[in-house]
Amino acid sequence: MSKILFDSLQKYKNLKRSSFHTPGHKGKSIKNADFFSLDFTELPFTDNLYESMGIIKQAEKNLSELYGSESSLFSCGGNTLCMQAMIRLCAPSGGKILCDRIAHRSAISAFALLDIDAVWIEREIDLNTGIMKRISAEYIEKKLKEESEIKAVYITSPDYYGILQDIKSISEVCNRYGIALIVDNAHGSHLKFLKMGLHPLEQGASMSADSAHKTLPVLTGGAWLHINDKKFCEDAKDAMALFGSTSPSYSIMASMDLCAHWLRSYGEAEYQNLADFVSEIRELAKSSGIYVPDENISDPCRITLGVWKIGFTGEEFRKFLYKFKIEPEFCDENYVVLIPSPFNTKIDRIRLKMAIKKSKQLAKQERKIKSFIPRLPRKSIDIRKSIMLAKTCIDVREALDKVAAEIACPCPPGVPIVMPGEIIGKDEIDFLINYGVFKINVVKSN
Ligand SMILES: Cc1ncc(COP(=O)(O)O)c(C=O)c1O
Repeated sequence: MSKILFDSLQKYKNLKRSSFHTPGHKGKSIKNADFFSLDFTELPFTDNLYESMGIIKQAEKNLSELYGSESSLFSCGGNTLCMQAMIRLCAPSGGKILCDRIAHRSAISAFALLDIDAVWIEREIDLNTGIMKRISAEYIEKKLKEESEIKAVYITSPDYYGILQDIKSISEVCNRYGIALIVDNAHGSHLKFLKMGLHPLEQGASMSADSAHKTLPVLTGGAWLHINDKKFCEDAKDAMALFGSTSPSYSIMASMDLCAHWLRSYGEAEYQNLADFVSEIRELAKSSGIYVPDENISDPCRITLGVWKIGFTGEEFRKFLYKFKIEPEFCDENYVVLIPSPFNTKIDRIRLKMAIKKSKQLAKQERKIKSFIPRLPRKSIDIRKSIMLAKTCIDVREALDKVAAEIACPCPPGVPIVMPGEIIGKDEIDFLINYGVFKINVVKSN
């Protein structure tokens, strides 16, 4: 029997591409720590994640001090586990959550498991750039006036393209209504170290779920749940334990603790240096004719390149980057997203600069971007019911008036066009086909 996965990964590693994707450690461990040798289990000395009394408790306390939270918890089940716990804490016995339509599937799974109903925050697209517009605090207030018994407001910030929401203004509204604001900050664990007050906790969020492994030197699977609001602290461990594995990885926990220690000494200098590099790349990109989203509302460490402006598709630009041995995080029809970290080498930085400079010579006529999203479809049944019922996978063209049993989220626009429980209409079908989605799971009708 071959060890195909191991060999293939080894082969990929030997290509020595510059990693502009997650995880943030870029294949290097701080102090050359050997995390394999720290892969322990619960022993008298090693403490227990979900009933921490010893070294894990102290490590979490250190993390909480670093982020200035009331309490911070380790997750070895990624941000997914933090999201599930956060949602459980706000709505332990179900109810309604006012929910960003840019919602990760981890949240939708939690809604299904906890029988939570989503009241959607509808997103609008910017017709000129194909990027989702920000949510206004006024819109949130309007929704809170219209809908009673909302248990929490849940927002994704920053999004994949690095766009930051106005958490400060939204949190002021939530405070006035006495409703928790929970933020999926999967892509923004590093924001705390930029000294601009951009981290959701600094902007007044009640809780923030941070996928530490995405932008920090943490092993994949490591994430943090930060809590600002005291009332959620007591039950937080139980909420994590409800969904988490009983064998959380000590290697991941050790990498998170080491990262927090490193951040304390070097975080601000390293992430400021990274932001300066990103700013340089953005200037180069703009002078090559590439569109760069508004920097005033963007994560200073995210590189989002609107290559439609120079006539490329994202996929074409990815292939172009391969010539410079660069692997980006993600590309869609119009954009290429790169996730740099302080663990990128000088060579990585040089390669990226060379690629962006070279792109100027290859620029073609601007491509017209498709920028339209249908209005929210009608709801038929609850998310939970649609996921628990028997389902069948059908051709999208045959899905008219069927009830979706999954999220259909083409990128672009990166916002789900259909959510589980919603009725698939003609607009949705046309849209999905137009964006290359040809199959969909729907609730099986008898
Ligand atoms: C916005 C967002 N939220 C949540 C998650 C889930 O994070 P994790 O993969 O750490 O479980 C992701 C992962 O890509 C994400 O992009």
